[in-house]
Amino acid sequence: MPHLLHLDSSIDPVRSRSRRITAAFRAAWESRGEDFTVAYRDLHADPVPHLTDAASHWAPRLRRPEDAPPAAESALQETLIAELVAADVLLIGAPMYNWSLPSTLKAWVDHVHVPGITAPFDTPDQPLAGRTAVVVTSRGGAYDAGTPAAEQDHVVPPLKIVLGQALGMRVAVIATSRTLAGTVPALADQTEQADRELAAAVAEARDLGLSLS
Ligand SMILES: Cc1cc2nc3c(=O)[nH]c(=O)nc-3n(C[C@H](O)[C@H](O)[C@H](O)COP(=O)(O)O)c2cc1C
Repeated sequence: MPHLLHLDSSIDPVRSRSRRITAAFRAAWESRGEDFTVAYRDLHADPVPHLTDAASHWAPRLRRPEDAPPAAESALQETLIAELVAADVLLIGAPMYNWSLPSTLKAWVDHVHVPGITAPFDTPDQPLAGRTAVVVTSRGGAYDAGTPAAEQDHVVPPLKIVLGQALGMRVAVIATSRTLAGTVPALADQTEQADRELAAAVAEARDLGLSLS
């Protein structure tokens, strides 16, 4: 039974382009039949708290004897990791805020990247290895490959390191840029390109939603 974990993190529930693109993926996924199930978390509407104890970053066997993270924190972490490990495909809406990922999404990442459980450390365990993560990133400006601005994107690179390198997932990126062209007069001449990028991103998401499992 192919199972999708779908995360959104945009603070804009109405005009969000990342939400529109992840919704296209999800609709395509669900169109394949009742077997294609979905678990959903809106990390903006229902935020995961920040970790409060550094020991939570490590598998229990790797902690010092005196470490005692709060029980509620450990319980939530177990729930989030179980949700992730249950998923055949991970879909993440990742808007750019101040050149980086939303703090709500970062808090989720901090809970699920645990050396010794989801990433190799003293053992080679990597339960997500080979599964696909689709990262949908939306940004107000342009960060095209080969331009100086591309180096200022601190959304996709850390997600590729955590999901791809640490967790061993195959990371596919769908990007839409210039999303502020319709609202910022100085960017008005980029509106057509922004709309084309959005349409291409929606189509790409739909294709992946129809083909991944
Ligand atoms: C708090 C905040 C910070 C932002 N910082 C940036 C930024 O650093 N660079 C950028 O290109 N756009 C920035 N934007 C614009 C968003 O990236 C853009 O509106 C994007 O479309 C948001 O994703 P969404 O459409 O899924 O909500 C910011 C928006 C907000 C609300």
